[in-house]
Amino acid sequence: MAATLFLLFFLCVLVSTNAEISSKMGINYGRLGNNLPSPSRSIEFIKTLEAGRIKLYDANPEILNALAWTNIQVSIMVPNQLISNISSSQAVADEWVRTNVIPFYSKTLIRHLLVGNEIFNFYSDEDRQTWYNLVLAMRRIKHSLSTYNIRNIKVGTPVAMDILETAFPPSNGAFRSDIAVPVMKPLLQFLNRTRSFFFLDVYPYFSWSRDPTRINLDYALFRGNRTYTDPRSRLTYTNLLDQMLDSVIFAMTKLGFPNVRLVIAETGWPHAGDIDQIGANIFNAATYNRNLIRRMTSKPPAGTPARPGVVIPTFIFALYNENQKGGPGTERHWGLMNPDGTPVYEVDLNGKRPENDFKSLPAPLNNELYKGKIWCVVADGANSTELESAIEFACRLGNNTCDAIRPGSECYHPVSLVSHASYAFSSYWAQFKQSGGTCYFNGLAVQTTEDPSNGSCKFPSVTLRG
Ligand SMILES: *[C@@H]1O[C@H](CO)[C@@H](O)[C@H](O)[C@H]1NC(C)=O
Ligand SMILES: *[C@@H]1O[C@H](CO)[C@@H](O)[C@H](O)[C@H]1NC(C)=O
Ligand SMILES: *[C@@H]1O[C@H](CO)[C@@H](O)[C@H](O)[C@H]1NC(C)=O
Ligand SMILES: *[C@@H]1O[C@H](CO)[C@@H](O)[C@H](O)[C@H]1NC(C)=O
Ligand SMILES: *[C@@H]1O[C@H](CO)[C@@H](O)[C@H](O)[C@H]1NC(C)=O
Ligand SMILES: *[C@@H]1O[C@H](CO)[C@@H](O)[C@H](O)[C@H]1NC(C)=O
Repeated sequence: MAATLFLLFFLCVLVSTNAEISSKMGINYGRLGNNLPSPSRSIEFIKTLEAGRIKLYDANPEILNALAWTNIQVSIMVPNQLISNISSSQAVADEWVRTNVIPFYSKTLIRHLLVGNEIFNFYSDEDRQTWYNLVLAMRRIKHSLSTYNIRNIKVGTPVAMDILETAFPPSNGAFRSDIAVPVMKPLLQFLNRTRSFFFLDVYPYFSWSRDPTRINLDYALFRGNRTYTDPRSRLTYTNLLDQMLDSVIFAMTKLGFPNVRLVIAETGWPHAGDIDQIGANIFNAATYNRNLIRRMTSKPPAGTPARPGVVIPTFIFALYNENQKGGPGTERHWGLMNPDGTPVYEVDLNGKRPENDFKSLPAPLNNELYKGKIWCVVADGANSTELESAIEFACRLGNNTCDAIRPGSECYHPVSLVSHASYAFSSYWAQFKQSGGTCYFNGLAVQTTEDPSNGSCKFPSVTLRG
């Protein structure tokens, strides 16, 4: 009897240490949309998805209350703008924890507290001071948690792959020299000491779409039988995600921290995008996410070639399409679910459903880049007040952007807001696409392959060479 009890106790201890890092899939709940359902409805949707974890981009009290008494583990986030304030004052850190963690902690399974989000943007000089304040802010938050006797919330910060200077071959992985010693080293020290995780946003989609001729699409989608053997480590890779993860593991190892565990804080694949974007379609998105889920939930865990058999908790990006995000069209099409809770395409977050059990997917039509001219014109239903300010904005930039629509010029007729705005958008985009300008204008503009030119009025265009 005593022996049985002891055995039971022992088993429970084993189970609970294993349960600490469960391989259940997580989902990112971003809310930059004006058509999204309420938090409580969204949590119901997340339950039907059977997500084991959820990641928020804030600590919204309504969401945290809706998550009470569920088994869903929760990651909450301190906004970037607060990092410096928290780093300079323990009282500010304590106050943040007191208002955003304490009221929910006993009923909601808050398990990660993320300080900031992707703050190491190389091009953003104004943020540089925040980089150096980050780890101090994390220490203060950790300290606040321990003054409340909270020991099971890991403190971390999600970083993007732009933290690496070199990522290929994976064994060559190294952090950017501007952050390696001043920031990454103290960060890793903190994560190691507190047994926390290195939270990584990792998108094979971006790597592939920047270089689709050299990187094989099937390799990015965990399909086919391509392999790559790293010439230095001799490790063999079967997919792009593993390659990217290992480049970070090698970078950490170079700084003396080979054992800090990874969490994939974001990954996914867009299911739609603009004409000038490649490979964003339902077929690829469903294939990537289904294969990702199978891999991340497999038992025993797959791990990566550098760390075989290790669980990597993973959050898919994202629950919904977020229609208020700017930038290229893909940015607004990462969601697994429509606002009414129906799936954009079928996925099983448990990874158990075999592929042939899903409905067949529409053939991918844009796995090769469109070749030809594209114009940027007014979208259906655009608001005329907003169009007027958008014309003004576009015409102020670039060289002679709107000369052709001035009275007496070749595109002045027809004298219509829509026609003038379409000209201004096309002219703006033709000049600025190279340097990252987009054809979006807050939803007022769309790309078209149909030439809007009329008679002697020629609209500037962007030419894609495939
Ligand atoms: C940070 O602290 C300063 C000075 O106390 C305050 O003026 C500012 O509003 C704070 N910033 C934020 C984002 O709370
Ligand atoms: C890889 O797949 C291709 C196409 O399906 C096939 O022709 C080839 O034999 C396969 N190679 C190996 C080593 O399995
Ligand atoms: C922390 O670093 C030490 C020394 O490299 C290592 O032995 C240990 O496994 C690390 N722990 C974690 C959680 O990374
Ligand atoms: C058009 O946009 C303006 C400015 O944003 C807004 O005040 C107005 O209500 C909008 N009109 C319509 C019909 O949506
Ligand atoms: C405008 O013209 C100047 C001088 O030719 C050139 O350097 C600049 O790049 C042009 N700007 C754009 C947006 O094309
Ligand atoms: C083409 O231009 C003429 C004269 O400027 C105008 O009457 C006509 O509506 C325009 N056609 C279109 C399709 O915009």
